[in-house]
Amino acid sequence: MPSSDVATCGGPNGGIPVVDFDVLVNGAADPRARAIRDLGRACEDWGCFMVVNHGVPEELKEAAMETCRELFSLPEEEKAEHLEAGPMDPVRIGTGFFSVVDGVRYWRDYLKMFAHPELHYPAKPPKLRDVAAEYSAKTRGLLLVLAEAISESLGLDGGRIPEALDLESCFQILVVNHYPPYTGPGDVGLGLPAHSDHGFLTLLFQNGVDGLQVERDGRWRPAKPLPGAFFVIAGDQLEIVSNGRYRGALHRAVVGGERARMSVVSMIAPCLDAVVEPVPELVPDGRGLEFRGVRYRDYMEHQQSNKIDGKAALDIAR
Ligand code: SIN
Ligand code: FE2
Repeated sequence: MPSSDVATCGGPNGGIPVVDFDVLVNGAADPRARAIRDLGRACEDWGCFMVVNHGVPEELKEAAMETCRELFSLPEEEKAEHLEAGPMDPVRIGTGFFSVVDGVRYWRDYLKMFAHPELHYPAKPPKLRDVAAEYSAKTRGLLLVLAEAISESLGLDGGRIPEALDLESCFQILVVNHYPPYTGPGDVGLGLPAHSDHGFLTLLFQNGVDGLQVERDGRWRPAKPLPGAFFVIAGDQLEIVSNGRYRGALHRAVVGGERARMSVVSMIAPCLDAVVEPVPELVPDGRGLEFRGVRYRDYMEHQQSNKIDGKAALDIAR
């Protein structure tokens, strides 16, 4: 990776907008209206934001991180059952490969678990089931409230976007990424190449090692969270349902240095059988329609089975 490629800007947090979750839920009318407006701007200009005062206990976040650290340190044979899994298998453990077809090795191990409507989990470590159940439920609740606020920020009823995507029976995935200390060529390498997420909203936190970057105006910016904050990334389904008014942020994970990096991701997406298309209210008289309806299951399978290439997956909805 050429060093000019990792030039970042925007200050220590890259200038990423901050949303106060407590104001969205409990705020008086005026501050709440301002928070909704700022949330909308963040989705429009950035496709990502940080969330503070979110109410998810630090101990639960730490337990999720620690339990997954144990999983990654298990001997290979304990994980073998899930190592050959495909993108639509409910538990998948990967080492070094982003997808089965691109043949490119990245500096990453990962665990993916389908968490809702049904929680799937590897047999070990034994406490993973309970930790994943609690973490997925808490973060799903948080993301569903954000979905309503986003709906309002588009000038719609809070329930409109959740209803359009059938978020009540939403599909949720937990992903834990582990980037071992970097010993490859050069000072830095790629743990995950630039991509947007295939779901609706992604909630992420990382251990104290930086590496996540988001693109804005053609520049990569460090997504270094405020202490205790979650980082939220708008996904492709938000871009589609909002007819491109909000955008899924392009992001990547850069590796370098002697410390392992970990990130824990909770993503909500439409119900797998929902056909996602722009809500008609945002496309008056059908003019300027940017996307056609695509069943989410097909979208996800397409994105996960092809070589990762920025936002190219969105083309199947055009
Ligand atoms: C991701 O994009 O799923 C993970 C990025 C990260 O590790 O921070
Ligand atoms: Fe991502």
